[in-house]
Amino acid sequence: MHDVAAVAEKGSMRGRVEMYNANALKIGLFGANCSSARTATLVPERWSASWPDCLKLARLADEAGVDFLLPIGRWKGYGGDSDFHGTTLETLTWASGLLAATERITVFGTVHAPLFHPLIAAKEMVTADQIGGGRFGLNLVAGWNEGEFQMFGVAQREHEERYQFAQEWIDVIKRAWSGEEFDFDGRYFKLAGVRANPGPVGGTRPVIMNAGQSGTGQAFAMRNCDAFFTSTSGARLAAAGTSQAMDQAKVFELIVKQVNDIKAAGRKFGREIEVYTQGQVICRPTQKEAEDYYHYTNVENADWGAIDRMLALKNITPQNTAADVFAGKRSMMASHGVGGYPFVGTPDKVAEEFADLGRAGFRGLAVSFVNYLNDVPYFCAEVLPRLTRVGLRAMN
Ligand SMILES: Cc1cc2nc3c(=O)[nH]c(=O)nc-3n(C[C@H](O)[C@H](O)[C@H](O)COP(=O)(O)O)c2cc1C
Repeated sequence: MHDVAAVAEKGSMRGRVEMYNANALKIGLFGANCSSARTATLVPERWSASWPDCLKLARLADEAGVDFLLPIGRWKGYGGDSDFHGTTLETLTWASGLLAATERITVFGTVHAPLFHPLIAAKEMVTADQIGGGRFGLNLVAGWNEGEFQMFGVAQREHEERYQFAQEWIDVIKRAWSGEEFDFDGRYFKLAGVRANPGPVGGTRPVIMNAGQSGTGQAFAMRNCDAFFTSTSGARLAAAGTSQAMDQAKVFELIVKQVNDIKAAGRKFGREIEVYTQGQVICRPTQKEAEDYYHYTNVENADWGAIDRMLALKNITPQNTAADVFAGKRSMMASHGVGGYPFVGTPDKVAEEFADLGRAGFRGLAVSFVNYLNDVPYFCAEVLPRLTRVGLRAMN
């Protein structure tokens, strides 16, 4: 159990990383700024991402002791019958509004480095941080979706260079936040006489998170970030092999290894990196109810058009992929909430799986729901107290 007293000070770096509470396993809501959130489904109750719904959700989550809200940086829908992610709220303005309306919860902005001038982004983030009294966090993304960049008339750089650019970008941001006056003579930015006041609350800086999956992306996170956001889909795919029934023990063995490898890589850069992952929660009083609803939302009513578009963006098509492999990837994306860990079951089962991931070394889980306002109250009432009982959460 973590020490609350040591993390209480608003704006301190330790306090920011701890999200000002003693919860050993941090829990956040992922993707609420995007329509349908993380489930490419056609069910009528799918998430709207409207501002009134986001505001209601943030207040409810703040009150219930949820640790953070993590938006998705998305500019253009993926198509399909629902135009998955076709309606989105911009994350820095979204975070600012929600920080003004809440008391305790940390709210991230997810920023595409190539789309924002770093001095504008630094100022917007400081403004959000001032509004929230030191509760703003940055999720930095280098970008991967070509169509989104074309929409801005911005050319997507080749992969290695994306992270060279992101390095300069974050260097400028950190210097702007430090309060010093500086010139910057880089390959991408040539800035003269920069002054940016105020700085972030407490004279520190917001927590920085990144979700690069490649070796270069991961090395970038190790050099620059406090937290690394990773996906468990590789471990789940590897454990599934060709069989339909996934061996849970094997999944956890692979996940433990994955987390340990990331932490070991962080130590090579002199960092104790915090590792997070994401998933989709469908929690119901009985296992059958949970599984039935999961089947209804993620299989029977999957938005296959959107799923195929997302796979095509990752260069996975029926033309270049063997039919059985393509079918497996398609079904994985639909049934596992766009690549997240599927927590489907009773409160006991969901809590047990959260606890297992906490014990595997994850510092936090960012989860999504088909409709947050329908589903989060039950999750908070039933799952959070179970995690408190096993020592992974403090009393709210
Ligand atoms: C959990 C998670 C969340 C992500 N969130 C976003 C996002 O909000 N916006 C975005 O454009 N990319 C997002 N990404 C994509 C990553 O930023 C990154 O581009 C991708 O994982 C590919 O890694 P690479 O750049 O190292 O090749 C996310 C990835 C993961 C695993």
